[in-house]
Amino acid sequence: MKTLILFPTLIAMSSLLSAPASAGISESVYGKMPDGREVKLYTLTNTSGMEAKVTEYGAILVSLKVPDKAGKVADVTHGYDTLEGWLGNSSYFGATVGRFGNRIANGKFTLDGKSYSLVTNNDPGGMPCSLHGGTEGFSKKLWKGEAVYTKGGDGVKLTYVSADGEEGYPGVLTVTVTYTLTNANDLVWEAEATTTAPTVINIVHHSYWNLSGDPATSINDHELTLFADQYLATNAGMIPTGEKAAVAGTPMDFTKATVIGERIAADYEALKFGGGYDHAWVLNGTAERALVKAARVRDPKTGRVMSLSTNQPAVQFYGGNFLDGTTTGKGGVKYQHRTALCLETENYPDAPNNPKAPTAVLRPGETYHHTMVHTFSAE
Ligand code: GLA
Repeated sequence: MKTLILFPTLIAMSSLLSAPASAGISESVYGKMPDGREVKLYTLTNTSGMEAKVTEYGAILVSLKVPDKAGKVADVTHGYDTLEGWLGNSSYFGATVGRFGNRIANGKFTLDGKSYSLVTNNDPGGMPCSLHGGTEGFSKKLWKGEAVYTKGGDGVKLTYVSADGEEGYPGVLTVTVTYTLTNANDLVWEAEATTTAPTVINIVHHSYWNLSGDPATSINDHELTLFADQYLATNAGMIPTGEKAAVAGTPMDFTKATVIGERIAADYEALKFGGGYDHAWVLNGTAERALVKAARVRDPKTGRVMSLSTNQPAVQFYGGNFLDGTTTGKGGVKYQHRTALCLETENYPDAPNNPKAPTAVLRPGETYHHTMVHTFSAE
């Protein structure tokens, strides 16, 4: 596939066109970090009407424009218009989260007989935990971007080197995250990492989706399928208890396409602990390194569909329960309760403390590899 690198004048010209003339990558300066370091923004376009913007700050997906069934293109993600907005991102909109996405109980784990202590920055149900990598996780770091061209599509590869001891985690961790946009309307997110000492890892992509393209509307009308017969039961601190609970006959059953809001007010303990949907579902048939189906979401108003597959064992479906209208995002919209959802493929929450979970340990000589394929269509 021919790739066109757009230079500033061409970028200005292309923005006058209704659809991208060609697939390609453009690069611009997005702004500066508070310490003066320059931050780049990459724009990927494909030949099928999609556009993805990715920034070096937090390896964040800034926006994703997707056509609906009438061909109308709209951004389907929550976020901010400027780098300044993203610098204050406390909801992890679009972010790459690490080293350990999701929760670690009490911020403590033991590895090879040694105890590690992390800062606790979250306490659902009054039970402290380390959430999403700690006080300043990967979502707040400046990564180094470069354009990459593959057979699958054009992409941007971002690299970050996390120092030994950063946020309490052992080993120097070298991480790359690659976003690729294909002409078949796939947005592929891939994370790889290597370490100089044994450590634990769970790098997570945290985009907030509203497939209607109208971020003022609720996602409770979206239809969701989760390819999971079980979810991880948790305590009030949203830490898995070790029990894999069957979804059958409960409001957690999304094995068939179901409107998200249909059972959200049910008198069900898990929904009370999560303040709605905020749980890890165990994906059916996960085999290490093979991609399995994780989820399918459809907005009935616009017909937009997002199908997600992954090589990870679980998916956290978070229904935007903590959004409360206090965050002003793109276009000045105040993001209200449940106006977006996250589908975070990952290892089990608190895996380092759960001997029954798939291992979260990465050792020198091994490579961590996490793939997510988001495929967009409209019907
Ligand atoms: C994840 C968690 C939620 C919440 C969001 C960020 O999805 O499971 O509980 O912390 O991230 O607000």
